[in-house]
Amino acid sequence: MPNDPNSDSYLLGVLGAGAMGRGIAQVAAAGGMRVRLFDANADVAKDAHTFIGSMFNRAAERGRMTADEAAAALGRVETVSGMQGFAECDAVIEAIVENLDVKHKVLSELEGIVRADAIIASNTSSLSVTTIASACKHPERVAGFHFFNPVPLMPLVEVIAGVLTEEWVCEALMKIGRRMTREPVRVNDAPGFLVNQVGRGFNIEAAHMVQEGIGDTVSIDRIMRDGAGFRMGPFQLMDLTGLDVTHPATVLIYQQAFDEPRFRPAMMMEARTRAGRLGRKTGAGFYEYKDGKAVEAEEASAPAYDGRPIWVSNAEPEGRDAVVAVLKETGAKLDVGETPGSNSVILVTPIGDDATTCAVAQGLDAKRTVAVDTLIGFERRRTLMTTPITDPAFRDAAHGALSGDGVPVTVVRDGPGFVAQRIVAMICNVGCSVAQLGVAAPDDIDKAVTLGLNYPYGPLTFGDRIGPDRILRILEAIHGLYRDPRYRPNPWLIRRAKLGVSLLTPNT
Ligand code: NAI
Repeated sequence: MPNDPNSDSYLLGVLGAGAMGRGIAQVAAAGGMRVRLFDANADVAKDAHTFIGSMFNRAAERGRMTADEAAAALGRVETVSGMQGFAECDAVIEAIVENLDVKHKVLSELEGIVRADAIIASNTSSLSVTTIASACKHPERVAGFHFFNPVPLMPLVEVIAGVLTEEWVCEALMKIGRRMTREPVRVNDAPGFLVNQVGRGFNIEAAHMVQEGIGDTVSIDRIMRDGAGFRMGPFQLMDLTGLDVTHPATVLIYQQAFDEPRFRPAMMMEARTRAGRLGRKTGAGFYEYKDGKAVEAEEASAPAYDGRPIWVSNAEPEGRDAVVAVLKETGAKLDVGETPGSNSVILVTPIGDDATTCAVAQGLDAKRTVAVDTLIGFERRRTLMTTPITDPAFRDAAHGALSGDGVPVTVVRDGPGFVAQRIVAMICNVGCSVAQLGVAAPDDIDKAVTLGLNYPYGPLTFGDRIGPDRILRILEAIHGLYRDPRYRPNPWLIRRAKLGVSLLTPNT
């Protein structure tokens, strides 16, 4: 009979005492569990023990635990000199190198040591749990237990069932996760599991947009941060993580998903990885770093509004009203004619469509047309988009007028869905696919993404806030222009948009 993870006697093994292993051991001991820690490099294991002790001491200094509790917590962590030290463990969490052959070899060896009813869990971030388990004689007791870095600060842990994993194993890992004061979420094995799958919608889409010349990295970061409310822009995030980590994980997810176009990596990420522009760790990535800080070019001041009349299309009445309200406030001259006057700036407020498509569909002069994103971020940072032939004088007039109330404006080149609409729609679509494929329950998808990626909302709630019908429109417009299956809307989204219900609605 497996031991109850909530019992005092429960004994956890942690294999690998690097960045992740030591964090896992720390939170387990803090949660009252006894831990045995092993690393092939004895110095690393010793260092991890000292490190964990210093973390507990710091917590005591800050009043988060008493000195006695800190000493007791450290007393629960024991380093062992070989995997034999795991013989009595109830569960062993593997956190060694991300290499399938090495994991296979080590786990087969481990299986010969641990008890017949011991759980074997892997902290792999990108390898298939089912494939890892396939080297074991008893794959039914193998599961994924995916923590995030740095473990003590990131409460999420994904409990991942491989094809053969038995239910009791996942239930025990959920309990272990809670005992570690984590927020465990149940996931079924899939490329990138849950969180890393959804994260592709943010990074790769942004990279594709830069590749296409829609905007530069700084502009896209500013739009996503200030406008869409993300804590970091996609390029800041990639610099922080390092392209040597992000890009191979992206390639692996794409390959594991049999070339699913939604996960197709961006060529520029491959090139930049090969060039060694990895990010903060190499002193240069998408940004240059001085004294560890990114150097961000100052934003150019907005051009002055030259007083030319501005006509706003009524094709999207809500968008029109938002733009007109700002123009009235900033004192711009409004052209209120049925059709634009001969020297008027023409503003359109598309949902999904690019500026060119809007101009042509509405019979407007593309040389004077500028599109404004009123759907995402209009109050905090405005995004304008030009057609390939927009006259710079008309673009500048729109820029000047729409920044007259002090809200910064970013101008990008033509692309369906601007920047924020497109990235948010992609994130939402991947979230819908995760739900559709049964990788995780709708509520868990949002919970995991907000905890694991710090997005302002989970993908399904984000979609609900914008409106599932609008997310669908955005994706259909992008798909219509590129004819790339990457942008095909997921059936989970299509059905809920048609029914007018929340994207969090599970199937009955
Ligand atoms: P790390 O390189 O900091 O630590 C790995 C440790 O494993 C090293 O100390 C190494 O000496 C030890 N090791 C290697 N082979 C061993 C063996 N046969 N027996 C015992 N110890 C062995 O790596 P890190 O970052 O801690 O990653 C570990 C695992 O966690 C990987 O599978 C990684 O993909 C996963 N992971 C990493 C995250 C991160 O952000 N660093 C996030 C989530 C998962």
